[in-house]
Amino acid sequence: MSLFDVYPLYDVTPVKANDVFVYGDDGNKYLDLYGGHAVISIGHSHPLYVNSIKNQIEKIGFYSNSVQNPLQNKLSEKLNEISGCKDYQLFLCNSGAEANENAIKLASFHNKKSRLLAFNNSFHGRTSAAVAATDNKKIVAPVNAQQHVDFVALGELEKVENILKENETCAVIIECIQGVGGLEQSSTEFYQGLEKLCKEYNTLLIADEVQSGFGRTGDFFAFQSHNIQPDIISIAKGMGNGFPVGGILIHPKIEASYGLLGTTFGGNHLACSATLAVLEILEKENLMANALITSKYLQNAVITIPEVKNVKGRGLMLGLEFDFPISDLRKTLIYKHHIFTGSSKNPNLLRILPPLTIKKEHIDSLINALQKELN
Ligand SMILES: Cc1ncc(COP(=O)(O)O)c(C=O)c1O
Repeated sequence: MSLFDVYPLYDVTPVKANDVFVYGDDGNKYLDLYGGHAVISIGHSHPLYVNSIKNQIEKIGFYSNSVQNPLQNKLSEKLNEISGCKDYQLFLCNSGAEANENAIKLASFHNKKSRLLAFNNSFHGRTSAAVAATDNKKIVAPVNAQQHVDFVALGELEKVENILKENETCAVIIECIQGVGGLEQSSTEFYQGLEKLCKEYNTLLIADEVQSGFGRTGDFFAFQSHNIQPDIISIAKGMGNGFPVGGILIHPKIEASYGLLGTTFGGNHLACSATLAVLEILEKENLMANALITSKYLQNAVITIPEVKNVKGRGLMLGLEFDFPISDLRKTLIYKHHIFTGSSKNPNLLRILPPLTIKKEHIDSLINALQKELN
């Protein structure tokens, strides 16, 4: 059987990884400034993380959500504490798209409305409502296009209000820093205005923190620097450091009832032990503080490269913008300098999404490589 050929692949075959490095079967050591698409938060194969999963599978790896699983309670308590989202409730699932799908569904159950509002350049995943709220026609199949989603440009509060006034929109879904869309963000005034409008028109505000959450921006969640309180927060990626896990944090005003949401695999013992280890390491190793320090270092260092016209994003969710497409540069960084980086919808933007354990010397490697290639 052949693989369904949907991914254009780089010719690199990772066989092992450690902290910020990935080792290929070609004997090369690659610096991972991509984090497997913002997934690796605490570094590859961290010993505490590995042991946590190993110890757990020796005891029990999985049982369904029909019995008690104290690890889920432990995780929700720990998340309440570290995230600062006190009293929120936790529902666990398996991926970012699934988190958003559940967030949207829950909003619609809550206020009984059926339209959605999303923003230009958004990416929320590939499942039904999540992909309909994604601003990329190429990945929206006719069956998904039946959802009624209004797209608005980031920052256009008046347009948001005109739509919410119609009283049909169950939720506004937003990435406070857009990932795939190219690291665009709006002002605190806009995010606060959005929160106010959502309250006024009985629409839930969903913060998609799938990529920006779990400390990547230096705050636990990207929305926190705007001092807003979303009704639902979706999480995945860095949460499991590669173990497939996702979830939603749900404001206490939203009530649960049996059967409202559900999943077979979500919140299983292994997923919980992976996420608990991630949280422990984030805290113990002060990785959010490290994200801020190394981000600043990178932003200062990049000044020495005149070809970088703009630095977008925050913390370790950064984009270096050039005035030419970066696809060739990205290939050169991989094949010649052995450095992984990311791309986005903006063809001129090189994305930097490293593990949060990155050190200044690793940033120096990127700067040296860019200087060599661009000067
Ligand atoms: C902001 C955002 N939301 C949702 C998703 C979808 O997550 P997943 O691929 O785990 O379904 C992504 C993936 O890149 C993302 O960046």
